[in-house]
Amino acid sequence: MSGTPQVTSADLFQQMKEIEDPEEKKSFGESVNTLKQELAEQLPQESTEDQDKAAFNIAPPSLDQLQMEMGHISPVTATIFHLQELFENLGFSVATGPELEEEKYNFDALNIPDNHPARDVWDTIWVTTEEGQKNLLRTHTSPTQIRYMEQHKPPIRMIVPGKVYRYEATDATHETAFHQVEGLMIDTNTSIATFKGVMQEVFSRLFKQSVDIRLRPSYFPFTEPSFEIDIKFEGDWLEIAGAGMVHPNVLKAGGIEDEAIQGFAFGMGVERLVMLLTGLNDIRYIHSGDLRFAHQFGLKRTK
Ligand code: DAH
Repeated sequence: MSGTPQVTSADLFQQMKEIEDPEEKKSFGESVNTLKQELAEQLPQESTEDQDKAAFNIAPPSLDQLQMEMGHISPVTATIFHLQELFENLGFSVATGPELEEEKYNFDALNIPDNHPARDVWDTIWVTTEEGQKNLLRTHTSPTQIRYMEQHKPPIRMIVPGKVYRYEATDATHETAFHQVEGLMIDTNTSIATFKGVMQEVFSRLFKQSVDIRLRPSYFPFTEPSFEIDIKFEGDWLEIAGAGMVHPNVLKAGGIEDEAIQGFAFGMGVERLVMLLTGLNDIRYIHSGDLRFAHQFGLKRTK
């Protein structure tokens, strides 16, 4: 600052306190007040209207500044939508079922009675209701097969996309909550050959190239025979779904008594498919909420 001495009104009032003679103090005080008033009059005045305006002085944004983040569907939903479309083209309907499920549908009706050792395969999150009923978060989408058969007569062609839950630790290939797409096709002449044909068609379209299919023997209580289905993609065999011919006990539990009815069912993990399609090596990124991950699967900005 320049050499001009800075005197504040507080300084002047302090000086006034130090004056002992009452008369002198009074006249000094009056002079300070007059000076304060004169100075105040010379300062530019702001009306309250001006002050209000200043407080809300937010210019309307121009379109240039509007670089809003756009939401977009996740790769899991995109894959589910794609699969739905591919199966619908082959005459399949899309069904849904409850995530909070009854033990009866998740296990018993699928030929997995209480104490069956296979129950251990599906680490279960049990939920006891206030009335004391033992329910669970469905461990797979398979219970919806039974619910669907209870409501629909064969021939049946349906898929069920949905969320499932497992009581297990997460790691690069396991999540406690993930998605499956279940499928069921039953009729009088539905065979393993039909199954292979359907899979060949769907996965060739999903992977945008003709893929080879391989069935490997496996075990599921709800199918007989059971198999794992592998597809050959870029030279490697990749396991993509569990499947099999629907067990007669399962058809019976769904209310289908006609012995001429047979068919196949399958269940596949959607996150696993996303990982195969994108080369992602850790499932935990998918539901992490990390925008750096999400932005790789959609439009980021309005411009
Ligand atoms: N529910 C099985 C699982 O979560 C997957 C599965 C296997 C579904 C075979 C099926 C099937 O419908 O036939 O591991």
